[in-house]
Amino acid sequence: MSSTRLTPGLSPVVAILVEHVAVSERRNCVVLGLQWGDEGKGKVIDCLAGTVDAVVRCQGGANAGHTVVVEGMKTVLHLLPSGALHPGATCVIGNGVVVDPLALCEELDDLGAAGEDLARRIKVSDRAHLVLPVHKALDAAIEAHKGDAKVGTTLRGIGPCYAAKVARTGLRCADVQNAERFQEQVRVLVAQANEELAFLGAEPLQVDEVLALIAPAIERLRPMVCDTVAWLHQAQEKGKRLLFEGAQGVMLDIDFGTYPYVTSSNTGVGGVITGSGLSHKAMGEVIGIVKAYTTRVGGGPFPAELHDAVGDGLRQRGGEFGATTGRPRRCGWLDLVVVRHACHLNGVDTIALTKLDVLSGEAEIPVITAYRIDGQETTAMPARSEDLQRVEVVKTVLPGWTQALDDCRNFADLPAAAQDYVRFIEEHIGVRVGYIGVGPGREATISR
Ligand code: GDP
Ligand code: IMO
Ligand code: MG
Repeated sequence: MSSTRLTPGLSPVVAILVEHVAVSERRNCVVLGLQWGDEGKGKVIDCLAGTVDAVVRCQGGANAGHTVVVEGMKTVLHLLPSGALHPGATCVIGNGVVVDPLALCEELDDLGAAGEDLARRIKVSDRAHLVLPVHKALDAAIEAHKGDAKVGTTLRGIGPCYAAKVARTGLRCADVQNAERFQEQVRVLVAQANEELAFLGAEPLQVDEVLALIAPAIERLRPMVCDTVAWLHQAQEKGKRLLFEGAQGVMLDIDFGTYPYVTSSNTGVGGVITGSGLSHKAMGEVIGIVKAYTTRVGGGPFPAELHDAVGDGLRQRGGEFGATTGRPRRCGWLDLVVVRHACHLNGVDTIALTKLDVLSGEAEIPVITAYRIDGQETTAMPARSEDLQRVEVVKTVLPGWTQALDDCRNFADLPAAAQDYVRFIEEHIGVRVGYIGVGPGREATISR
């Protein structure tokens, strides 16, 4: 593409710069969940990972459960990036991720021979914080202490680890490089956590047991630790293509989600920037993943939730059981107030609509387009969970279709009502639907 055609009227130098930005923008992409997680990010990332040089996780930790299905074989990735199954892709665990060395090793072992190969392709940020057994014990104790008001966390130690990071008392991957000092740091951490555990009425941890438990995993982690910020900047300079893998979803974002029923990180583009060390200019295309209906796991408000047989049907047909905890997911119709909120916050360029096949057989498909609160209709997302809890939903009912979609590979193969469903979303949100998922496998994807 010539720069003068791209930017007529600009001086050649400026035109070249503008073109360079345009090219690098095309090169990288960000994949984000736009609902409450489990939108099908793993599948989309796996589909895109064959064309990139590195897949980069930037936030969250082993609370994620990203499913990839290749030739009928299902793999669930938690801490490892979903590019893991592509031998050509480097897997980067960025500085914003919270890294549980035990979970990392367990996941690599579960992958067998592929895990051994992968261990050589993983780069873990020296700035990433470590999730240690104390954080998992605290997660469980805090949840138990909250009783009915519990968040319903994945118990992976995520909240306590991020809390320690912000309180400036956490341990980072860089700390494992000095083995002796690291042991001392763990002793201090366990002593502090034990005070908190005692306050919460939970059993204290024995520091020597903790040290013995984590020692082999720390040994395996050590060679993977490096300066990923420098590595990513060099990769950018060499023109490598990067894919940033979001975890969770925008409604679980610590700032913009249904606080306090959220995770402890920024799950949108902001988290990608601070969690990778690259600037907004490196982000490229933002692809937002939207499930064709809505699910959530754990507590918190969910205006679209169906408490009836229709919701049960979506759960059964969609296989809506947590990929990390096995918990049944709460199910409801598509909520476009949520999707619009998420698109506004993240400058989403393209929507990937997943699980459209699960809606086959529904006579009518209601879609939520607004909320009504205190008699007022609104499309704004209330800040308070108590308010979101009491909104009434405003629905548009669209016609359903009976045909199974599993074999559709082109937009034109979809029944007219399914095509209209996709167009309704596009028109309502003002963002193009570029990919449509019609099954869990890599191949069951329509590009348009
Ligand atoms: P993630 O956390 O966003 O990666 O999503 P999960 O892996 O937790 O949950 C998504 C589930 O839906 C997984 O079981 C996927 O295999 C499955 N899935 C993804 N896309 C599709 C699709 O288009 N159709 C169907 N039927 N299943 C899908
Ligand atoms: P992926 O990446 C769905 C939810 C938990 C809980 C809340 C806080 O697979 O989409 P945490 O353990 O993070 O402190 O839990 O967030 N949660 C997820 N729900 N998908 C996820 O990840 C989630 N990660 C956390 O259920 O409600
Ligand atoms: Mg998941």
